[in-house]
This record gives sequence, structure tokens and C-alpha cells, in this order.
Amino acid sequence: MCGIAGYVGSLEAASVLLVALERLKYRGYDSAGIAVLDEDDELVVEKSEGRLTELQARVDGQAVRGCCGIAHTRWATHGGPTTENAHPHGDSDERIAVVHNGIIENHEQLRKELLADGCIFRSQTDSEVIPHLLAGSGKEDMLDAVISILPRLEGAYAFGVVSELFTDRIVAVRQGSPLLLGRGDGHVMLASDIPALLPHAHEVCMLDDGQIVDIQGSEIQLYNSEGEKIEAVFKAIEVTAEAVSKGDYDSFMAKEIAEQPEIFSRLLESRVTGGRLDVGDFGVDLSKINHVVFLACGTSWHAALLGKRFLEQLARIHVEVDISSEYRYRNPVASGDTLVIPISQSGETADTLAGLRLARSMFMPVVSLVNVMDSTIARESDGIMPLMAGPEIGVASTKAYTTQVLALYLFAMQMARAKGRLDLSVEQKMLAEISHLPELTASTLVDAEESVVDAMELFSAAQATVFLGRGGEHATAMEGALKLKEIAYVHAMGYPAGEFKHGPIALVTEALPVVCMVPQDHMYEKMLSNLEEVRARAGRIISVGFKGDNKLRSLSDFCFPVAQSPIPELQPLLSILPLQRYAYHVARRRGCDVDQPRNLAKSVTVE
Ligand code: M6R
Repeated sequence: MCGIAGYVGSLEAASVLLVALERLKYRGYDSAGIAVLDEDDELVVEKSEGRLTELQARVDGQAVRGCCGIAHTRWATHGGPTTENAHPHGDSDERIAVVHNGIIENHEQLRKELLADGCIFRSQTDSEVIPHLLAGSGKEDMLDAVISILPRLEGAYAFGVVSELFTDRIVAVRQGSPLLLGRGDGHVMLASDIPALLPHAHEVCMLDDGQIVDIQGSEIQLYNSEGEKIEAVFKAIEVTAEAVSKGDYDSFMAKEIAEQPEIFSRLLESRVTGGRLDVGDFGVDLSKINHVVFLACGTSWHAALLGKRFLEQLARIHVEVDISSEYRYRNPVASGDTLVIPISQSGETADTLAGLRLARSMFMPVVSLVNVMDSTIARESDGIMPLMAGPEIGVASTKAYTTQVLALYLFAMQMARAKGRLDLSVEQKMLAEISHLPELTASTLVDAEESVVDAMELFSAAQATVFLGRGGEHATAMEGALKLKEIAYVHAMGYPAGEFKHGPIALVTEALPVVCMVPQDHMYEKMLSNLEEVRARAGRIISVGFKGDNKLRSLSDFCFPVAQSPIPELQPLLSILPLQRYAYHVARRRGCDVDQPRNLAKSVTVE
């Protein structure tokens, strides 16, 4: 995890880099630091544990002057979240500064050797071996020094280096962790993600693994892993600064929840041409696919559980859903008619990427569902289904989840058509029904708000919450529980309602809110029985059901009303909306930072 940035240009590097860190803090936010070469080419380093505001205060107080620098926002892996462990890290003489994202797996061995050589270590991080190796490389030129130490580093990394010996120069490398190069009028930037390049860069070049970039003033030279010069290919940056700001909202999470209706409209518009569905040509003949394996983590895994239901129901093919970190370490069976579908908002999740690489090594076609189009997962896949949800910055995934669900349904329709199971008239009828989802999403967000706030008033202090659902709503229950856990720090679990009586029902007391997903489908009566079982044990009920379901309302302490999806399988897309808002309100009432929950980072780029 962690975010890194670099700047060379005509502006004060510190102010540019602090904005970049603000945009990267979703990648980690337990400490941050900056190193700037001042007018005398001396390194000025400022670091601070805690939130970025701590560093901002220090930098403001110090007037760090200079037009070349590097910066880092950290998610601790090796060594606690302290100021000493914050990047940049230096060599013994503190003439070199390095920011690093990733893990140097052989750092212990390297540290032992470097200590024996007399190097002075100041942190417990794996990263600190890099500046010491550079200082001890015996190379006079910075680029030569970087190239010479790469064979000694094991693991995944992207790092950037500045040195007092070289004016306006940054050398950076990518090997396994993302690194982008941006350029604008008189500005050259480096960053782990595109938003951090804004507003100064207008064009971006994605570095590939093994590539090294040498920035000297406004001159940029790219090298391959053999150290040969290669051309840096730039393309226009399409993300706007507005898309990565909170606008009038108090948090990114609130903004991203509110954006959902508009995103669904955009997705549907782009996937329906002339009344027919067109989710794209992935270079894979879907009619020959008899087996699908989904790979995903966290919220994306919940979306995959729904994807399985959609594909089984519409295309009648066999589907497996794997948690990426499990898939990558077992010995999965490969077959020629299997399509592997990694699902990832960020496109950088390390375990999902490893699963993708394993699948490709077994010659299975891979089509990814990703939101970040220039991500590593997108680039390493045979085909891509772009989510087009726009940048998701809040650590809790909201709009990416619902968009994944909708995109998976459209994909299942396309697969059904390829399999000869969806004729034109049914397809058109379904598309007409789906076209109502944006307005139903908007009305559900409005209708549910009052009861969500009322329930929050009563239950925000609850120690635990259970979420129950059946079928597709089991995925909603797990997703609702994950939201509450990660941003409000309330112990929560999503459970299949039919399993509740096999043990977890022992948890029910009058202090336990139980959230029951009760759409009016073929499981309605069974869910009502679950609800009665909880009531009989004095549990408190929050139900999520159709607006106008008075019976449900009368059986519940609170009822979050949701619109009825014209396609019953897509009901979970609407049912999750009040649960997103519930987690948001509970978190705020408990004084939590909804966008930056403790211990987490948005992109999990380490194992
Ligand atoms: O970027 P990805 O979709 O691959 O991320 C997967 C999970 O890390 C992510 O969904 C995580 O569970 C979210 N914080 C949940 O809100």
C-alpha cells in the first residue's frame, strides 16, 4: 500500500506534493513525509506520524523551499506508524532520500549486511535498505546507482530517489507496485495514481514493471529493465480535479453514495446500443465458455456472489466464486472452457492480481471487471469490462459495489445471449425494465433516509449488529455488515438467514439489533419467520423491505423502505442503499472518520 509522489518544475515542490498526498491518502494515512531539495541543493526532510494534517502543519511552519521533491503517505507494514518509520528514508549521511511503496522481502538479510558495513539505520522499515544500498553502490551517477541495486531487491516496489548531489533530479522505478509519470506545462510529476498528478499534469505515462525513469528538470528519459532507453508514451489525463474533490459533501463516502443513480444511467447508456445490449468484445468467444471463476476480495467478492447467481440463472453455466487470497495458494483445476473474471475496483489488489497471473499461467482467458482503467489488473487481462463509476476515494466501497452488481447482470445477459438462452424480445423487455433502476435508486436514497437516521439514533451505541438475508440478499447482508465494521467499528456479521438458528441465534438479546433483508420474493414468508424468531427472543429488528409493506413495518422496530426492482434478481442493488447510509450515520455519530477508517487503506497492494 502507501502512496508516493514526486515533483520537478517551477512551483514550490512542497505545496504541490502536499496536494498530491491528499489525493493519495486513501492508500494509507498513518504517517506522511516529504523531502525537498532546497535552493542550495540541501535536502529538507519533514515527516510526521498521524494524519496528513500533522505534516501539513509542520511544512507550513518550516517554509520548505525548493522545486524538486518526493513525498509519501504510509500504511504501515514493517514497523509501527511512528515518525521514525515515516518516509522518506535516508542513507547514513542523509544525502539521499527515498520514498517506497511495496515490500522488500529480503530486507532482513540486506539490513544485516548493511549494518555490518557500518550503515546507520534510523527506522524499523524494510524500505530503509534502499538508500543505504544506493549510497554503498559505488556508482557516481544516480541512475547507475539505482540500476545497480535492483538485482539485490526482492519483492514488489515502486520507489523514487532524490539526492543532494543532483539538482532537480528524481530517479524512480516500478517493479510490482503502481507508478505513473505525469507532465504538464513546465511540470513533471510521479505518483502512485492519476488523481495525485492533477492539476499540474495533463498527460500520463504508465510505467511497466522493470521500467526506470530519470527526470532531470523538464527532461524525461525512460529505461527498460536492461537499462536501455525506451520511449515514454503519454496519453491525455481524462479525470478532472472536480471528480476527485468532495464538492459540497462532508465526505467522499456521502458523495459517492449520492452519485449512484447518475452512474447507473451512464453505464446503461454506454452498454445499450440501438435497443440491444453490448457489453463489449473481450476477444473471448462466450458461446464456448462453460465455466466461470470469479476472483475478488472484500466488497468486490460480495458482488461476485451476486454475479454467480446471475450467470447461473440466465446463462445456466457453472460458476465458482473464489476469494483471491485463497485461490492463489491452492492448486486450481484449469480447463479450456473456463473464463476467469477478476473483480476489482482499484485494479491493484495484490491477491486478485496474483490470482489473475496464476490463471493466465494456466492459459485460461481472463476478462476483468475494473473501475480504474489504467490499473495493473486491467492491463494484464485479455479483456476488460470497465465499470465507469468514476474515482472512488472513500475507503468504504459504495458506488463501485452497486455498479459492479449492475455490470455483472449485463454481462450475464450477454453470456446468456451467446449461449442461445436469451432471445431478442426478452432482452429488450429486460433492458426496458433495467432502465428504471437509476430513478428507483434515487427515490430509495430519499425515502429511506428518515428511518435510517431514526434507527441510528437508537442503535449507534450497540456493540454488535447482525444482518440476515437469503439468496442474493445474503450478499447484501454481508456487504451491509462490512460497511458497519469498517467505518463505524461495530462488530457485525452478515449471515444466511436460514442458518441463523444453527448457532448464532444464541447471540440475540434486547441489546442486539438484527437487520433483516425482506423483499417480497419467494423467500418472503421464510424471512418473516426468521424475523419472528428474533422478536420472540427480544431482539431488536431493523427490516429492509418494500415501501408500503405494512405487515413488515408492524413487525419491525424500524423499517428501511426500498423500491421494488422490476428485475427481482437486481433487488440487492437497491436493498444495499439504506445500509450504506446507515453505516455512514452510525460512523459519524460514533465520531469516526468515514473516509479514512483506522487500520485500512483503499487499495490493498500488499498480501
Ligand atoms: O479494489 P478492490 O475492489 O480489489 O478492493 C477489494 C477490497 O479491498 C475492498 O472492496 C474493501 O473490502 C473495501 N474497503 C470494502 O468497502
